[in-house]
Amino acid sequence: AAEKEHNWFIGSIDQGTTSSRFLIFNGEGDPVASHQIEFENLYPKSGWHEQDPYELLNSVEKCIEGAMDRFAEQGYSKVDVRAIGITTQRETTVVWDSTTGEPLCNAIVWPDTRTTAIVRELKARDSADTLQELCGLPLSTYPSSVKLMWLLQNVDPVKQAYDEGRLAFGTVDSWLIYKLNGGAQAEKPIHVTDSTNASRTMFMNLRTLQYDDKLLGFFGLDRSKIQLPKIVPSSDPECFGKLTRGPLAGVPIGGCLGDQSSALVGQCGFSPGQAKNTYGTGGFILYNVGTEPVISKHGLLATVAYDFGGGRKPAYALEGSIAVAGAGVTFLKNNFGFLEESSEINALAASVPDNGGVFFVTAFSGLFAPYWIDDAKGTLFGITQHTTKGHIARATLEATCYQTRAILEAMEKDSGHKLESLAVDGGLSNSDLCMQTQADISGIPVDRPRMRETTALGAAIAAGLATGVWRELEDLEQVNKNGRKVFQPQMGRPEAEKMFRKWEQAVEMSKGWTKD
Ligand code: G3P
Repeated sequence: AAEKEHNWFIGSIDQGTTSSRFLIFNGEGDPVASHQIEFENLYPKSGWHEQDPYELLNSVEKCIEGAMDRFAEQGYSKVDVRAIGITTQRETTVVWDSTTGEPLCNAIVWPDTRTTAIVRELKARDSADTLQELCGLPLSTYPSSVKLMWLLQNVDPVKQAYDEGRLAFGTVDSWLIYKLNGGAQAEKPIHVTDSTNASRTMFMNLRTLQYDDKLLGFFGLDRSKIQLPKIVPSSDPECFGKLTRGPLAGVPIGGCLGDQSSALVGQCGFSPGQAKNTYGTGGFILYNVGTEPVISKHGLLATVAYDFGGGRKPAYALEGSIAVAGAGVTFLKNNFGFLEESSEINALAASVPDNGGVFFVTAFSGLFAPYWIDDAKGTLFGITQHTTKGHIARATLEATCYQTRAILEAMEKDSGHKLESLAVDGGLSNSDLCMQTQADISGIPVDRPRMRETTALGAAIAAGLATGVWRELEDLEQVNKNGRKVFQPQMGRPEAEKMFRKWEQAVEMSKGWTKD
């Protein structure tokens, strides 16, 4: 790689559910500077979850400034940054007026469940069963399609913009790329998305990687009235434009990936059979199935893993999505006041030797994979006078581990192969207790890298591949390989099985609880 001699750096925007970050990586894939900002999530009604699109954009721009300050302190400047990549939370739905570039309302965030009634109605339609074969996703409150339907039915300015042909739709990647390129004021506004993000909308055909009229028609969308982002590969030197302001003005955007795809790339999970679990706000297990999609029969999603373009075939994944992982810890901190900082969870959970019989089905947004129970509610089981905060903390961590195990079982059934080990990253992976519990409950080794900024690294890799910092995936062989820690299962299998059966009982009992 001749370009490597230039000592290039690559920037990475990582816009997640609770925070935005900007990291700068060197050519070995190590971060050298970063900045992070937490922003406000809005919960205006029970089950509703919103974000202000401008807050997302502003936090990203501030993160770029903060990280560039750190970068400058090390003697570097903009000219050392070859390109930037962008990775974002997925499904979260933004709508704006294409003539002004202004958002028409808050973004509806991926765990929001206000669409439960719409989903029930859609599921009853004759053709509902045919969608998953085309787009890989089952009908649920999770994808962008139902969020957009809700906005069209309930927010007048959105409906009006649609009727007048000036409604622009996008997931967070599209919104940010559009605005970072100058929005409506740009000479040629850039309205794009990559195929990994598009595969979360239910509008894209998983095989053609283009919008499918049957899918759009099912959700009642008239293509002549709505401006959908153009679907492009995840790595490309031209499609994503460039930053137009701030300390990196003029630097091209070379890569774009949904954050869970990006983590798989950052773990270098390029071979079929490799899988990773990212324990962020939610938990997301992606299992690389190769260059043909596998449509799940056991409650998983089929999704685009990455699509590096340039004549390479896209790779697909089976995905198990867990709505609440780190969000459970945030809940204990913010709603119950159990913790000052989320990082204290490990110590609190370790203050007791076991869960003391407590099981916490953290179904704040219903239950996602592999259960897909829209009306499950968060439910604590097994509380007695003996129960302490430590037991509840432990049960909160265990909830994610049980759901991961259920997903791994579904993956085994869908793929016909038992996973040999699970690569992990994301906030909760910092908890040794949680990772040991994961190995114990699932009965396979859990493999944690030293450098856990895998989500940001994935987008940097996509951008680096587009701009010649790395030419082929083989050039990445040494990236993120050092200092991995492996948690081996230690608990006896009968004990693990007993705990998992109790969890399944708790899931059954958390169903069907409605507010009224
Ligand atoms: O599908 C939602 C997912 O992309 C959000 O990821 O890391 O913000 O929980 P995270």
